Amino acid sequence: MREKERFGSRTAVIFAMAGSAIGLGNIWRFPYMVGEHGGAVFVISYIVATLLVSLPVFIAEVTLGRRSRTSAFGAMSKMDPAHHKVWRWAGLLSIVIPMIILCYYSVIGGWSLFYLFKACAFDFVGTLPEASESLFGNFISSTWTPIWTHLVFLAACAWIVARGVKSGIERFSKLTIPALFVLIVLMMVYSLSLPGAGQGVRYLWRPDASALNVKTFVYAMGQSFFSLSLGMGAIVTYGSYVKGDENLVVSSAGTAVFDLLFALLAGMAIMPAVFAAGIQPGAGPGLIFQGVPFIFSSLGVQLPVLSSIIAILFFLAIVVAAMTSVISLIEVGVAFLGERFGLSRPKAAALTFLVCGSVGVLCSLSFGPLSGVKVVGKTIFDLLLLVMAFLVVIFVGFVMKKEDVRDEITNGGRKTLNDKLFGIIYFLIKWVAPICVLSIFITNFIL
Ligand code: PHE
Repeated sequence: MREKERFGSRTAVIFAMAGSAIGLGNIWRFPYMVGEHGGAVFVISYIVATLLVSLPVFIAEVTLGRRSRTSAFGAMSKMDPAHHKVWRWAGLLSIVIPMIILCYYSVIGGWSLFYLFKACAFDFVGTLPEASESLFGNFISSTWTPIWTHLVFLAACAWIVARGVKSGIERFSKLTIPALFVLIVLMMVYSLSLPGAGQGVRYLWRPDASALNVKTFVYAMGQSFFSLSLGMGAIVTYGSYVKGDENLVVSSAGTAVFDLLFALLAGMAIMPAVFAAGIQPGAGPGLIFQGVPFIFSSLGVQLPVLSSIIAILFFLAIVVAAMTSVISLIEVGVAFLGERFGLSRPKAAALTFLVCGSVGVLCSLSFGPLSGVKVVGKTIFDLLLLVMAFLVVIFVGFVMKKEDVRDEITNGGRKTLNDKLFGIIYFLIKWVAPICVLSIFITNFIL
């Protein structure tokens, strides 16, 4: 079997994991979820859910990955003292689900690439709202262009994964994550300078008591799980590349804080612009693709070059953020194929590209020519993600020996602070997280 690679340093671990976490979930999904679920109350629930529930789940996934040092497929069955078959099935799910998500995610990554090309061609200058809506509708329902952009996008990510954990994934993340923060801050400054931006800021930060209900918290928690890449085998896989002496709590908390911060910055970059342009914040999934080009065009009539440059930076940020997330999804497949079938990295990456690229073509067509055919319903994904995250916390909380978990989280008792914190973290993993995930199910499917 191949020698297992490791991330080189703490910065590398945090950047790679933050790369997986920061993605379309932060820039595309977070703003429209805020818009659909009551603004500031959602934002506050999201912050609480991330720190109280998602972070412990994240620590559980990294712990499982590093302890087992296997791909997401083998992690649970390897660590189960009783070798129950059920954990092999769970392992299989944790490969299959991310591969299905990858097919879709890469199609949307391709959309961002298309918009980046459009921005580079200065195509948004002077676009009217109706025109940017029909641009989006026509583009996603056409046949060839979205297929090409999806394939180019996926191929670029697979190529980076093929280069290896250190010289591919680690290098790319170290280069792009700091750049992403710079880009989003620039976007935010531009957005805040627009006339009428204050309304967007108030929308994000001034809670409206009438939006306060259980559902808001439940949606915020779902968003936070997706945003931290939980329940997809990605963090378990990256966890298996973390060195033995790395402090798991510090690197997990660092990642969660980066991801949280990025979502808030993205919100501050997008909401003020949405309000300034008079767009409905609850416009749904099309919010950034339909709304943002118009924002740049209408407000940039006086300054077409500046607004076009900002548009380019904005779509570049989306493409890069989506790439680092897709890379982590491809890695789930590559680690599995290498471990189970001995495939080399380039071969495993090529195979993942071929399979997910082809299924992705069907997903892409399902927005247009094959719009009657649903590859798999979207709600099923949300459900599966939660099932997987639930299985992981139950596994770490109830199946793995407590001493093993303590040993892993505290690096054999060498990290004194983690030793003191361990009781709290373990309680959150064992009780709070599963109960919260169960409550999402109940609220979503029963209420
Ligand atoms: N966390 C990513 C985002 O916010 C999505 C993702 C989920 C990536 C699961 C990998 C695994 O966009």
